[in-house]
Formats: sequence, C-alpha cells, structure tokens
Amino acid sequence: MDTVRDWIRQARHIAVLTGAGMSAESGVPTFRDAGMPAPGAAAAGTGSGLWAKFDPQQLATEDAFRANPGMVWDWYAHRRETIAKVEPNAGHRAVADFQRRHPGRLTVITQNVDGLHQRAGSGGVLALHGNLGEDKWLDLPRNCCDAHAVTPGRPPFCDRCGNMLRPAVVWFGELLPIGVLEAAGQAARQCDLMLVVGTSGVVQPAAGLARLAGGRVVVVNPEETALDDAAHAVLRGTAAHLLPQLLED
Ligand code: OAD
Repeated sequence: MDTVRDWIRQARHIAVLTGAGMSAESGVPTFRDAGMPAPGAAAAGTGSGLWAKFDPQQLATEDAFRANPGMVWDWYAHRRETIAKVEPNAGHRAVADFQRRHPGRLTVITQNVDGLHQRAGSGGVLALHGNLGEDKWLDLPRNCCDAHAVTPGRPPFCDRCGNMLRPAVVWFGELLPIGVLEAAGQAARQCDLMLVVGTSGVVQPAAGLARLAGGRVVVVNPEETALDDAAHAVLRGTAAHLLPQLLED
C-alpha cells in the first residue's frame, strides 16, 4: 500500500481504468460477480452479477433490440431508475478530488455507463461503453428525425419515419466510439501509472488498455481478475475503501 502511494506521488500522469466494481458500493450491480457480495451491493438486492440473471444476447445486442424493442427499452429504463437513485461513492469522489487538486494529472477511462464518475465531478471522462443517460437513433437519422418529431413510447420513435431511439451504450458486437478509444489508448500509453479498479478484465478492447500501459499497473479489486498477471501490484480491497487512502496527498 505505501509503495503504491509512493508510485502515485511520483507519477506525472495517472490513468484510472474502471469497471462495474467501481460503482458496486454505490449500489449498482456488477455484471459478472460470481463470488462474495460486494459491500453495499445488498442495497441493489443482489451480490451476483447481472449476467448471471439476464442473458446479454437477449438484452444487450442490436438484434435483441430490433426483435423486442419494448422489452430491451424497459430493461434499460429499469437500470436508469436504479442509477438515478444512487450516489457516487468515496472511490469516485477520491478520483475527482485528486483531479481537482492536480489538474491534468489523472485521466479516467471507464467501462461504466452509469455516469457516476461525472457526477462525482471528474472531468474529461473517457466513457468507452457510452452513457446510459443518453439516447441515440437506432438507424442513421434522416432529416425528419429530430427532437421535435420524437413521439414518447417504449422506445420513443420518430413519428415521421418510425426510426427508434435506443440507449447510447455499446452493445455486444458493436464498435467502441473510435475517438474515445483512441484517446484512452493514448492515455494508457502515456501514463506512468495505471490503476485498474473494479473490472474483471475480460471484455476487450477495454481490458487490453491495461496491457498497453506505459508505466506501472496496479489492480484494485477484492477478487482475482484476468489482469492480475499484468500488474506490478495487486491490492485486494474495494474501490470505496482503498482509493481514498491511495489518492490522498
Ligand atoms: P464485471 O462485472 O465483469 O466485473 C466486476 C469486477 O468488480 C469484478 O472483478 C469484482 O471482483 C469487482 N468488484 C466487485 N465489487 C467491488 C468493489 N466494491 N470494489 C472494487 N471492485 C469490485 O464488470 P466489468 O469488468 O466492468 O459491457 O465488465 C466489463 C463490461 O462487461 C461492462 O462494461 C459491460 C459488461 O458486459 C457493456 O455493457 C458493453
């Protein structure tokens, strides 16, 4: 722990790569937690991951949305409601406070779509998998598809051509937003230290960013991850517990 704190103090640039575990203590369920319930996860009614209860192929693909737009829309609406009720935790706040105290020294790269880093006050967040708080058109928008033509529904749709709104998140089989991915790759390569927090490290290309890191890699996670072998140090603990200690001056 003290060694990692020294590395943080010395680092000119830090990248923080986060996954669902970052928000577990806020009460947002993770995707693949098979093991012990994350502290705080009881608030969300479960200690196991979303993908143990739901089939991603039925909910998180374009095909699923086209086949059953109402059901997929409702599932995301439920996740939006969950997220609206929770708050950033001490881990999110520690990251944002560090950025405030050290402008330009820390870049947040997140797989999370919950917007909690942003709500904690982090700036320039690289949201690899999009944002649950935003919608976009399912098909390429035509001239008629604008805010005035949206008819409320599940999902809302363009009343002229029928194009549907969908959550602005990355689904399985889709490419990540290229500008965000490039910026994340650059932040990874240029960092002296990367903190990999709350991710199982199994979803590409996000997980690969840890292997691109130009400097030391530190994994923060209560459980084993697929990125432990890339780490110069592994800290077994939770985000809300460890990040405030690591990132205080
Ligand atoms: P996972 O659900 O795969 O992994 C969550 C990780 O968080 C596990 O390694 C847990 O051990 C860890 N964890 C649980 N509680 C924690 C805590 N309090 N503090 C720190 N770590 C904790 O989530 P991701 O790795 O983010 O993709 O999953 C990657 C992607 O898979 C997601 O972005 C999502 C999903 O399908 C899309 O939606 C495109």
